[in-house]
Amino acid sequence: MTEVPQRRIRPGAFRRAEQREGGTDEAEQLIWLLDVQERAPAIGRLRDWALTQLAPRPGETAVDIGAGTGAETRRLAAAVGSTGRALGIEPHPLIRAEAQRRAAADETPARFVDGDAASLPLADASADLVRCERVFQHLPDPRAAVSEIVRVLRPGGRVALLDTDWATMVLHPCDPDVLRRFNAAFCRGFAEPYAGRRLRSWLTTAGLAVDPDIGSAGVVLPDEQLGSGPFVASAVELAVEHRAISRAEADEVLRDLAAAVARHEAFCAVTMFAAVARKTG
Ligand SMILES: C[S@@+](CC[C@H](N)C(=O)[O-])C[C@H]1O[C@@H](n2cnc3c(N)ncnc32)[C@H](O)[C@@H]1O
Repeated sequence: MTEVPQRRIRPGAFRRAEQREGGTDEAEQLIWLLDVQERAPAIGRLRDWALTQLAPRPGETAVDIGAGTGAETRRLAAAVGSTGRALGIEPHPLIRAEAQRRAAADETPARFVDGDAASLPLADASADLVRCERVFQHLPDPRAAVSEIVRVLRPGGRVALLDTDWATMVLHPCDPDVLRRFNAAFCRGFAEPYAGRRLRSWLTTAGLAVDPDIGSAGVVLPDEQLGSGPFVASAVELAVEHRAISRAEADEVLRDLAAAVARHEAFCAVTMFAAVARKTG
């Protein structure tokens, strides 16, 4: 069983503009969280689907925006081979260092650089494919980021955006009205909590040809992360601070959840979506 940190993850910790506020401890916790998410089977399936749709070929230039610890950048590097180029853009210096360390450890020629989705450090029409996973939920101006993707893609280039729609969170057991208020408070911690449902519209508005097949995955939280740790317990505390639910309601949610976890009856999930598009002009 994975050890679950008991500290809370600060809302906005992943947001580029707020990353300077966190220290080494927070970076370690964010890396832990990215590793937990990487092990989620549903995320793996959605990543596989997106990679298949992008179909990277040897010799191509592939870009992973907001690469995190770089697992998917390394897969892109393997696919484009020694004649191609895989570049991870990651603004968090400690997460980027970890991505670089992991690529060096498995001798993958993926490179990681600092950068912002809203002003990519790439020349016009220089990329064959771009992927960007769970970054748009943190962006203050998603349309600026899509414009940048359009700028750096070559004609015929492909893009895959993968993101969560936090309003889809389900939790059992939990009174539906309490869950609605709890979830509304949780969503306030994200710049774009409904990114998942907006991916297609952002790509379409930017003039890209969007594939009608939208990928999706129900990401189910493992039991050991339900009762305590940075997920439900800290989100419930946040909802109390925002006065979205009362202390008594929070205590009841956590008590019922702990009992349900012990009986293997608890359930918490959120839906991720993925949209793929092509630059036609
Ligand atoms: C939830 S993590 C996802 C990481 C990785 N894509 C994955 O799926 O594991 C969000 C990532 O976006 C990065 N990020 C935040 N704001 C960004 C911005 N403005 N431009 C590029 N990346 C950004 C964060 O540093 C973080 O690594």
